[in-house]
Amino acid sequence: MAGLASTDPGILTFLFHVTAFRRRMMMMMMVIIITTAMCSSSSEAARPWPCEFEGFQDGFSPCSSDSDGSWTPFNVVNVDWHGAKGDGVTDDTQAFMDAWNETCSSESSVLMIPVNKTYLVNHLELRGPCASSVVVEVAGTLLAPSEPSALNNSHGNAWILFSYINGLTVEGGGTLDGRGQQWWDLSCKRNKSNKCKDAPTTLRFSYVTNLKVSDLMSRDSPQVHLIFSNCYGVDVANVQVQAPEDSPNTDGIHIAATQNVLVRNSSMGTGDDCVSIVSGSADIRLENITCGPGHGISVGSLGKGGSNDFVSVVVVDGAVLTGTANGVRIKTWADGAGAAVGMIFENIQMINVSHPIIIDQRYCDSASPSSCHTNETSAVRISQVYYRNIRGTSATKQAIKLQCSQVSPCTNLLFEDVDLVWDMGSANSTTFCENAQGFLMGSVFPYVDCLPPLPEADEGNAARLARYS
Ligand SMILES: *[C@@H]1O[C@H](CO)[C@@H](O)[C@H](O)[C@H]1NC(C)=O
Ligand SMILES: *[C@@H]1O[C@H](CO)[C@@H](O)[C@H](O)[C@H]1NC(C)=O
Ligand SMILES: *[C@@H]1O[C@H](CO)[C@@H](O)[C@H](O)[C@H]1NC(C)=O
Ligand SMILES: *[C@@H]1O[C@H](CO)[C@@H](O)[C@H](O)[C@H]1NC(C)=O
Ligand SMILES: *[C@@H]1O[C@H](CO)[C@@H](O)[C@H](O)[C@H]1NC(C)=O
Ligand SMILES: *[C@@H]1O[C@H](CO)[C@@H](O)[C@H](O)[C@H]1NC(C)=O
Ligand SMILES: *[C@@H]1O[C@H](CO)[C@@H](O)[C@H](O)[C@H]1NC(C)=O
Ligand SMILES: *[C@@H]1O[C@H](CO)[C@@H](O)[C@H](O)[C@H]1NC(C)=O
Ligand SMILES: *[C@@H]1O[C@H](CO)[C@@H](O)[C@H](O)[C@H]1NC(C)=O
Repeated sequence: MAGLASTDPGILTFLFHVTAFRRRMMMMMMVIIITTAMCSSSSEAARPWPCEFEGFQDGFSPCSSDSDGSWTPFNVVNVDWHGAKGDGVTDDTQAFMDAWNETCSSESSVLMIPVNKTYLVNHLELRGPCASSVVVEVAGTLLAPSEPSALNNSHGNAWILFSYINGLTVEGGGTLDGRGQQWWDLSCKRNKSNKCKDAPTTLRFSYVTNLKVSDLMSRDSPQVHLIFSNCYGVDVANVQVQAPEDSPNTDGIHIAATQNVLVRNSSMGTGDDCVSIVSGSADIRLENITCGPGHGISVGSLGKGGSNDFVSVVVVDGAVLTGTANGVRIKTWADGAGAAVGMIFENIQMINVSHPIIIDQRYCDSASPSSCHTNETSAVRISQVYYRNIRGTSATKQAIKLQCSQVSPCTNLLFEDVDLVWDMGSANSTTFCENAQGFLMGSVFPYVDCLPPLPEADEGNAARLARYS
């Protein structure tokens, strides 16, 4: 097996690993879908009052159906019953906190934020543990204070923070409007004379398990739109994120120290990464994602300031990226430690993406290049990355960039059926390759000349297994 460092498992082992990743994902999805469905409640069957309740959007019933066909009403807690005005002007924070307190402290509760109303709320710290699993039905719109000075900065630096809850569903078809404009103007990325400091995340989940987030729109967040940190078992579906292309650091979904995550049918257009996955995260699956504008889908950054970071098993299956700065990216800082191992990027369409496939083991977004640690005495190890069926157009000539480290080359990269043409059409797209090891299968364009074709002998069962099992 030419080209492989002796310390790494052979490519066949990797192909079997790919098979194992797929099985692991299947198991994970089954568990997530079942456990998060138990926290939710939708049913289309006819139901008696009070299971019909105006203010809920179609498809939600404030009752759970029991196995014998009877209905148990949830304990509905409407923020309006706690004095919320929902006129977009009155500060409804206290009413929300009171309503949360009641919801969290009683069994089978639904916190109801009615449709067609707009609630101005300051920082909400929605903390558990709760008496049982909780549903938050966001049917209306939540509005953040527009003045940065008015938003109470808090632990977690989030506008809305859910923490220490087991069994939480946030859904309802409503909107979270972060009104980030004035925060963006204060960003040092926008104006060099501003001091660099963090702005709040719109919606953060911290230490939440068995979490479902669906049918929500998050717009114009001061900084990151959604963060999952230290969570386990997360099902995200039908979420939309919207912020202008030039809004600084407004990542769509940021996943940190969180395991077993499924993100489906969601679209993100922002000024930063659509999805970013950082240290401590494992078993992450993104399916049917629409991304753009923005910086694409990123694993990392990892290893900043010499830190020891780990990410394992990330699958992106089905994505369309339009006009983004990157497509699928793995970014690590020089002089870091740890590993990013086991990634499958497949069935992805790139439309005018500047760097469709990129590994950057010398990532640095520091304002002062001297802090970029380019000595490269160590690196975050990158291994077992499978790019399969990735097609479309590159906005730059260099469609594939494998900028790997000399001290820790990228190993076991596998490209299969890639076709990325330069949008301007006047010449063939190209590949940049440094310190990368692995193989090519099927037809790969632009040609990745630093990697040999997979020996024919291996193009048998193992490869087929990797693709379809
Ligand atoms: C909310 O507004 C929509 C559109 O104006 C209207 O069709 C719907 O009946 C309203 N729903 C409620 C519960 O007021
Ligand atoms: C929450 O409700 C409980 C009783 O229902 C009450 O004792 C407690 O003071 C409330 N806490 C807050 C923060 O309102
Ligand atoms: C911010 O927090 C302080 C202290 O907790 C409180 O007195 C003040 O009312 C809060 N401001 C807003 C706008 O919620
Ligand atoms: C940048 O910030 C400085 C200081 O806050 C301000 O005086 C200047 O007008 C800003 N420039 C732009 C282009 O907004
Ligand atoms: C994703 O979208 C498809 C097609 O509209 C739909 O069939 C499926 O139920 C959706 N999945 C989720 C989890 O909403
Ligand atoms: C993909 O997600 C979008 C929403 O972003 C949805 O409209 C579409 O039906 C989904 N397609 C599939 C095949 O699930
Ligand atoms: C492609 O992207 C480039 C740079 O991102 C942009 O200038 C150009 O207008 C885009 N082309 C199309 C056809 O959208
Ligand atoms: C790089 O190495 C030189 C010489 O060993 C050392 O002086 C310098 O501090 C190192 N720089 C960084 C950023 O680690
Ligand atoms: C472009 O790529 C095609 C297919 O690999 C090859 O046949 C052709 O010679 C290339 N053209 C140039 C100008 O390199």
